[in-house]
Amino acid sequence: MKVTQAELTISAARPDQFPKNPAPEIALSGRSNVGKSSLINTLLARKGLARTSQRPGKTQTLNYYWINDRFHFVDVPGYGYAKVSKKEREAWGRVMETYFQEREQLKAVVQLIDARHDPTEDDIMMYDWLKHHELPVIVIGTKADKVPKNKWDTHKKKIREALELEEEDPLLLFSSETGYGKDKAWSHIQRALFD
Ligand code: GTP
Ligand code: MG
Repeated sequence: MKVTQAELTISAARPDQFPKNPAPEIALSGRSNVGKSSLINTLLARKGLARTSQRPGKTQTLNYYWINDRFHFVDVPGYGYAKVSKKEREAWGRVMETYFQEREQLKAVVQLIDARHDPTEDDIMMYDWLKHHELPVIVIGTKADKVPKNKWDTHKKKIREALELEEEDPLLLFSSETGYGKDKAWSHIQRALFD
């Protein structure tokens, strides 16, 4: 996909701040530090649009990117960080619940998993929860450049097995360092958005 326009339009902290725009959207979700913002920047070919390696757990907002005057990417804060209080975490959990349960514009969730390691308990819970809400999921193993090529298949298999990945959900490897997986990721995202 050729990205001609991409801008951060709103950081939504509450459901009433979600855009009213009926355009389709894709959410990106994953553990803090998994490489979500980097992936967004790589897909959009916009260095520094999504802030990378900011301290996790500071702000909890759904960051809406408006792309090609046609669709949204939604950067969902990383799960699995300990720095926020229990109360904050619960409040944020309710926002997320509302978002994933009720957002009609949401066509699919890209779930990022660090390809170097086995999925964590949080990764598995997140996938189960998305499937519980009957959302299509595109699983992307990040930081593939850190995994030797001859181990790629083994790592993919481990992710597939740990998540008990459903047949219809694609799994691919990606690197924001090299751009590997960019075209494949776009083709799955486009299909989810527009088919
Ligand atoms: P939060 O916003 O805190 O949830 O993190 P995030 O998931 O947005 O991660 P971010 O994109 O900020 O990346 C975290 C760190 O991983 C940064 O230091 C990135 O440079 C590094 N990183 C991200 N993607 C890759 C990749 O594909 N390969 C390598 N080698 N490093 C990566
Ligand atoms: Mg980020």
